[in-house]
Amino acid sequence: MCGIVGHLGPRNSVEIVMEGLKRLEYRGYDSAGICFVNEKGQFSVFKKSGKLENLQALIAKEKIIARSCIGHTRWATHGEVNDVNSHPHNSEDIALVHNGIIENAEEIRTELLAEGVRFQSDTDSEVFLGMLTFYTQKKKMGLVESIAQSFKRIRGNSAFVILNRATSEIFAVKRGAPLVCGINEISSEVLVSSDPYALVGVVDKLYFPEDDIICYLSAANKNLLRFFDLNLVPSKRYFSKKQEMSFKASEKGNFEHFMLKEIHEQPELMRGLVQFYFHGEGKDSLHGITQLRPERIIISACGTAYYAGLVIRNFIETFNGVSCTHELASEFRYRKPLVNPKDLAVFISQSGETADTLAAQTLCKELHVGTLSIVNVEGSSLYRQCDHNLLIRAGIEVGVASTKAFTQQVLTGRILSHVLAGHLNDKEKTNALIYKINTLAERVDSLLVNSGLIREVAQQLYNKKGFFFTGRGPYFPIALEGALKLKEIAYVHAEGYAAGELKHGPIALIDHEMVNIAVMGEDLFEKSISNVQEVRARKGIIVVIGPESHREEIKKISDHAILLNLEGLGEFSPLFLNIVNQLLAYYVAKCKGTDIDKPRNLAKSVTVE
Ligand code: M6R
Repeated sequence: MCGIVGHLGPRNSVEIVMEGLKRLEYRGYDSAGICFVNEKGQFSVFKKSGKLENLQALIAKEKIIARSCIGHTRWATHGEVNDVNSHPHNSEDIALVHNGIIENAEEIRTELLAEGVRFQSDTDSEVFLGMLTFYTQKKKMGLVESIAQSFKRIRGNSAFVILNRATSEIFAVKRGAPLVCGINEISSEVLVSSDPYALVGVVDKLYFPEDDIICYLSAANKNLLRFFDLNLVPSKRYFSKKQEMSFKASEKGNFEHFMLKEIHEQPELMRGLVQFYFHGEGKDSLHGITQLRPERIIISACGTAYYAGLVIRNFIETFNGVSCTHELASEFRYRKPLVNPKDLAVFISQSGETADTLAAQTLCKELHVGTLSIVNVEGSSLYRQCDHNLLIRAGIEVGVASTKAFTQQVLTGRILSHVLAGHLNDKEKTNALIYKINTLAERVDSLLVNSGLIREVAQQLYNKKGFFFTGRGPYFPIALEGALKLKEIAYVHAEGYAAGELKHGPIALIDHEMVNIAVMGEDLFEKSISNVQEVRARKGIIVVIGPESHREEIKKISDHAILLNLEGLGEFSPLFLNIVNQLLAYYVAKCKGTDIDKPRNLAKSVTVE
């Protein structure tokens, strides 16, 4: 989705904003632009559809130095992808960038047109600029008052960053969309962005404003950053923390793609999670939830996080004996769900900014249900809105295809179920859990150094017509997640199915060009084998990802067998098999030559509904 960066300070703002936009590329976009105040005291605007390199090429010819700049990567919603619709939008005195949707834009545009305000683009974003122009010029209001006034008027989730030509100062405001500010007091720099990743290495303190709070970025020494509510009263409605993310974590290192690097980070992250929750700072957040005794748990999320939720539901049912429902956030939010205050609603999200997940959380709050997040980004909207939070500690995930976040979400969900079962102070049970997670980490370590077979299978199958990922019981969510991974980065048709369901329809699609990736473990092994037989009888190509302990049976019925030692992994066997799916998707995509880290049409964090 759209990325926003604004910078004010003594260094060249254009360079810093361009670097910030580069880092936000992973979020997905189709055009990019910047605006700054030039040496003549006028706005210079450069914007271009397509990749950031196009914009880079445009400004490379200029010698630009500016002390204040705003920039944007656009993911089109209103108006086609072209230079005019790209951001920033500007008048002579005001420039802005926008992330989100103004739902009542057309109504406001009509009113403004009647007042003589003119528009260049088809975007809803320019309507906000029109309002600012109207209030400052016709109503003679100050800029900050106009921002407050205009922001009160619009509906929908949005974040704006606004540059004032006369003073070079920057304002930002948001509702239901991500926004973070950061300062470096030593270098007197202040930044704002839709993503903390853009701020790494420049600032040392982060501020996450709440909705309807105006952030005022100025060059004034002691007052780099101030906050006001929409009545222009100074406000403390923000969450602040030290900037802890490091550059190392955000670089590819020796890996060809972020996705591969992130797959390889998993064992270390698993160990880190154990360290954090059982021996480190994370203990406090676990102690904070030991008193929770929900009658029912409702899990809600989108995409990969939703599939992680399916695995977690199995944990809750198995280890807690608590009823657990599992909901797509984008559907749940539009139902009239029958919930009650004794329930606990658990929201899972890597970014903590997914619009539908946030809306589902808001709905639960309105219905007086306690909320808990399993989230990666500390300080994100979901993190701030929930009553309790469990961080998944995955570090920054740059690849659009979520890999390490899924694994960490599932493990964190297991730790949640452990605590809710009242086992946190049970040494034996806690040690057994820790041992299992560490065993999983070791097994993944050795799988990663022996992944040649997975690459070979990918090389042999990447051109096949379609892929059915199947699984039963705890392996069914892994089938769903495997299919999602493959389709999103390799652009091949893939479906995840409960293996027992194939014969109820989809088996009609099976022929010698269709691949069945059958994911199976010890549970329901025989039933899973029978399902594979059904596909084999129809000449489907069989790949089994399954337990080494059943080597002979698997070899007999498969064209390709990827066998793993699942012994001692218990409920984490599905997670282990899932790593094979991640690598398989990666290598198929590599054979196809797709843009693995930034697949077409996708955005890392889906902040529009
Ligand atoms: O940031 P979130 O975890 O809330 O994102 C949810 C989905 O958009 C995300 O998992 C998406 O499905 C991934 N691209 C899958 O790899």
